[in-house]
Amino acid sequence: MAKIITKTNLAPAVYEFVVDAPLVAHKCHPGQFVIIRTDEYSERIPLTIADFDREKGYITLIVQAVGNTTKHLCDTFNEGDDILDVVGPLGHPSEMGKFGTVVVVGGGIGVAPVYPIARAYHELGNKVISIIGARDKDLVIWQDKMAAISDELILTTDNGSAGRKGFVTDPLREMLEAGEKVDLVLAIGPVIMMKNVAATTKPFGVKTTASLNTIMVDGTGMCGGCRVMVGGENKFACVDGPEFDAHEVDFANLVMRQQMYKDQEALEYSCGGH
Ligand code: FES
Repeated sequence: MAKIITKTNLAPAVYEFVVDAPLVAHKCHPGQFVIIRTDEYSERIPLTIADFDREKGYITLIVQAVGNTTKHLCDTFNEGDDILDVVGPLGHPSEMGKFGTVVVVGGGIGVAPVYPIARAYHELGNKVISIIGARDKDLVIWQDKMAAISDELILTTDNGSAGRKGFVTDPLREMLEAGEKVDLVLAIGPVIMMKNVAATTKPFGVKTTASLNTIMVDGTGMCGGCRVMVGGENKFACVDGPEFDAHEVDFANLVMRQQMYKDQEALEYSCGGH
C-alpha cells in the first residue's frame, strides 16, 4: 500500500500525485519507473518517477487520464487514499556523466520524466538546454521547475498560445543548423515526437536517447508486452530500457503496437471494462 500525500491538477486530465513509497524513494535514480496497481482489479500501469524525496520517502508520479485505469486513478483517488501496489524502481537509470551541452526535449507530460534526468545533468555540470512543448498553453506542465534547472528554456506550443508557435523540433533543428555544439539529446514524449527528434538529430550525428513508455504488464521481461525493435533486435523496454539509442529504435513498429493496444482498450471501454 502506498498512501497519496498530495494530488494536484496540473492540466486538463493531468494530475501530479506525491506518494509515500520509501523503499522506492531511497533506491531510485533518474530515468527509472514504477509499475502501479490501483486495486486488485486494476491493470498495471508503468509510470516514470518524475521526482523523489529520499528524506521523506516520497515519489512524484504524473498521470494523464487516457485509459481505464488512469482515468479511475485520476477521477477517484485523492489525498489520503492508498494505491494497492507501487513496484520499483524498475528499468536502468539514465546514463549520467559530464557530456557538455545536453538538450533535453519534453513533449506534453513527457516533461515530467525529463525533469529528474535534466536536474541530474545540471548538477553534474552539463549545460542544459530544455525544449518543452505542448499542443496548447493549458497543457504545459512544470515550466518553472524545468526553468530552475536549465541554462536555457525554450517553450513551444503547436498553436502559439504560449512560447513560440511550432514543434519542439523547430528550435532543435535551428540550433543544429547554426552549428551549435550539442553533445547529447534526450527526448521523452509522444512516440511521434521522439521519432521526429531522432530524425532531426540523425543527419548531424548527435547522440540521441529516447525513453520509451510502452505498455507494460509484469515489468520483469517475462510477458513481452513492452517489446520494441532496436537496432533490428527485440528488446524489452522494462528490463533493457526504458532508454534506448533513438536512432536505432523502430518507431513505426512502436506506433503500430501502441495503436493495437489502443484499439483493444477502446473496445474494452465500450464494453464497460474497468
Ligand atoms: Fe513484460 Fe516488459 S513488461 S516484458
